[in-house]
Amino acid sequence: MMEMNSESEFAVLKVGGKEIKLPVVVGTEGEKAFDIAQLRKETGYVSLDQSLTNTAVCYSSITFIDGEKGILRYRGIPIEELVKTEAFVKVAYLLVHGTLPDEEQGRLFSRLLNKNSLLHEDMRHFFDHFPRGAHPMHILSTMINALAAFYPNVDLLSMDEDIELSTARLISMVRTMAAMAYKKSIGEPVVYPRHDLSYCANFLNMMFDSPVAPYTICPEAVRILNILLILHADHEQNCSTTTVRTIGSAQVNLYATISAGISALSGPLHGGANQEVVEMLRHIQENGDVKKYVDQVKDKKNTQRLMGFGHRVYKTFDPRAKIIKKECHDFLRKMNISDPLLDVALEVEDVALHDDYFISRHLYPNVDFYSGIVYRALGIPENMFTVMFALARLPGWIAHWKEMIGANTKIVRPRQVYIGKRLGEK
Ligand code: SDX
Repeated sequence: MMEMNSESEFAVLKVGGKEIKLPVVVGTEGEKAFDIAQLRKETGYVSLDQSLTNTAVCYSSITFIDGEKGILRYRGIPIEELVKTEAFVKVAYLLVHGTLPDEEQGRLFSRLLNKNSLLHEDMRHFFDHFPRGAHPMHILSTMINALAAFYPNVDLLSMDEDIELSTARLISMVRTMAAMAYKKSIGEPVVYPRHDLSYCANFLNMMFDSPVAPYTICPEAVRILNILLILHADHEQNCSTTTVRTIGSAQVNLYATISAGISALSGPLHGGANQEVVEMLRHIQENGDVKKYVDQVKDKKNTQRLMGFGHRVYKTFDPRAKIIKKECHDFLRKMNISDPLLDVALEVEDVALHDDYFISRHLYPNVDFYSGIVYRALGIPENMFTVMFALARLPGWIAHWKEMIGANTKIVRPRQVYIGKRLGEK
């Protein structure tokens, strides 16, 4: 519910000999913004906010983050509560539909996911033509874009049930595509989804089952994978979600829109960071000096960053990192796995969190700092880490696309400040 401040609080802008009042809007958690929709019309000026650090681009009721307090809620429910469901599919339903599913809704949604878990057989042959070393994020983005060719009815004029079907198809089929991309990369026969397995159990089975070495579903592995996917499922207006909302505003079909979101997520400053964290921890382990590496990161002459640290919104511990750190510890202990990179990660965190460079800049571990260690323990290869992030973020992207379409959003087309050559200038 969005309210226009009843005391008609406003910002007064005096510029170019003019004085205009900018109405203030207040969100349900007290966030305040002044609406500049009439700015150019009334003053001839535009606002400038490169990388949109201080700019709200929409109203949204999907996810709330308080970066100062380390709060994250999906549809008003704290993330700490949602991980207790240990059911990514239920949280996916919550994000896309606005409420957790009742028993009947949950059953129907799971049935729709199962029904749409198989890839079109003609699409399965696409994998035969990707180079063996192709990064699975590039394969995933390509395959999802190709879905529009195989299921052309997804466009904005389609009825709700088509969007429901496309949602299930994406959430379910992307999991199949991800596992098939992995199997192809190691030269093994692909494993088909099974109707009798849950979402995460099916994924692990498709990844690790083999005709010569049958995979035994491990409940602890299924549990922690559900938790990781829940923690990554949405995060309001992050780079890839903003990409989805922007592309979607041009009324591009849902598959092409999600394909663009995957491309944005693959960036090392965004979802690609989980793979970069493990590469960094291994580099530190091989060179055996945490303090030396942290000092290099602080030296502005170097461009390297402490991967998995820092966040545009969180200026305290990322609540997701807190949960993953604990779950990672417990899982490795239960599975009797010792990973030296976890010890390195703990040492890096300790050194950084006692160093004024990081404290003064409010740089804390983010969601990517520990997630890769869990994926390693599950046997998932590093080049699949960001694919796991994409699998998880799908319901978030779809929820934002639906919200943006539902609000009849105009096509996104920002302004600029031109600083190029004047007419006739050499
Ligand atoms: C995700 O937006 C989301 O919600 C994203 C996400 C999601 O769920 O969708 O949470 C997922 O993308 C998490 C972030 C994963 N990326 C990384 O871990 C890469 C490492 N982190 C950074 O590059 C950085 O912290 C960002 C990109 C995450 C945020 O950067 P900002 O907000 O643009 O901050 P900045 O670049 O303005 O940095 C401010 C200062 C600078 O120093 P000074 O110029 O003040 O001297 O902090 C420094 C930066 O150099 N800094 C770091 C640092 N991050 C910021 N210095 C060393 N190591 C870092 N990681």
